[in-house]
Amino acid sequence: MKTIVGIDEMVEARNGLEGSVGFVPTMGALHKGHLSLIERSVEENDHTVVSIFVNPTQFLPGEDFDKYPRRYEADRRICELAGVDLLFMPRREEIYGDDEVEVKAPKRKGYVLEGHYRPGHFDGVVQIVNKLFHIVRPTRAYFGKKDAQQLYIIEKMVRSFFWGIEIVPCEIVRDSDGLALSSRNLYLNEEERSRALLLSKSLKRAVKMVQEGIVESGKIKEEMVGILAPLKVEYVEIVDRDFNRLEEVEIGNTIILVAAYSGSTRLIDNIWI
Ligand code: PAJ
Repeated sequence: MKTIVGIDEMVEARNGLEGSVGFVPTMGALHKGHLSLIERSVEENDHTVVSIFVNPTQFLPGEDFDKYPRRYEADRRICELAGVDLLFMPRREEIYGDDEVEVKAPKRKGYVLEGHYRPGHFDGVVQIVNKLFHIVRPTRAYFGKKDAQQLYIIEKMVRSFFWGIEIVPCEIVRDSDGLALSSRNLYLNEEERSRALLLSKSLKRAVKMVQEGIVESGKIKEEMVGILAPLKVEYVEIVDRDFNRLEEVEIGNTIILVAAYSGSTRLIDNIWI
């Protein structure tokens, strides 16, 4: 595996790759969720490129950019063992220039749910992913359903700009007790972690209700909010796969999403029905 910092060097290394190139963009502090994307890419492509870049433009003022975990040596080992060909770790000064041309998230779908509580977050995401796509020019790119709205917006971006990259949605990886893996779980102390389980618990309850034939969004959300009561909840929402609010769950076309704080750590989770 080659670790590359410079953009010119990355472009050159990419030009040397023949066949299909799978790409997994990340912000590092890699866990089994990231690893599942990487392993899938290694399996499905001739070559795999992973990027690690804690992207400043997708953090809002006051968010956790400064304390976001950085574990470059451990991440490098994980990528190497997984069979990654190129690990791209660009520098902020080379990625971002002064007074740039900017790519923006869609005005409506980029500003609901996550985009409502983190306004401008998805602008930063599309800005960086667009840059990384230009540098890496992958055949396929792998994104987790854990960040369902991000995945949706990236798919939209690929269509908007005629990227011709296949976006591969990957299942959410959870700990054995149900907690969705996240680099931010590192912030949780024992008590906060155990309370964080309420997110997946509320989603499991929602699935159970649907299985019992209760499909009204109002009823499901009320039940979930009850379960989530010990946490500071930002939203509980039931949407279709285009992120339009649903009055009733439609099997095969529904995502139930939750965002809540355990202590001072903001967590998100969702389930696709
Ligand atoms: P990051 O949070 O590091 O996540 C990188 C990728 O891993 C994303 O596609 C995310 O959905 C996926 N992922 C994270 N936790 C997962 C889990 N438990 N199961 C499955 N997949 C999981 O998302 C970002 O970075 C950034 O916004 C990025 C796209 C790199 C742009 O900066």
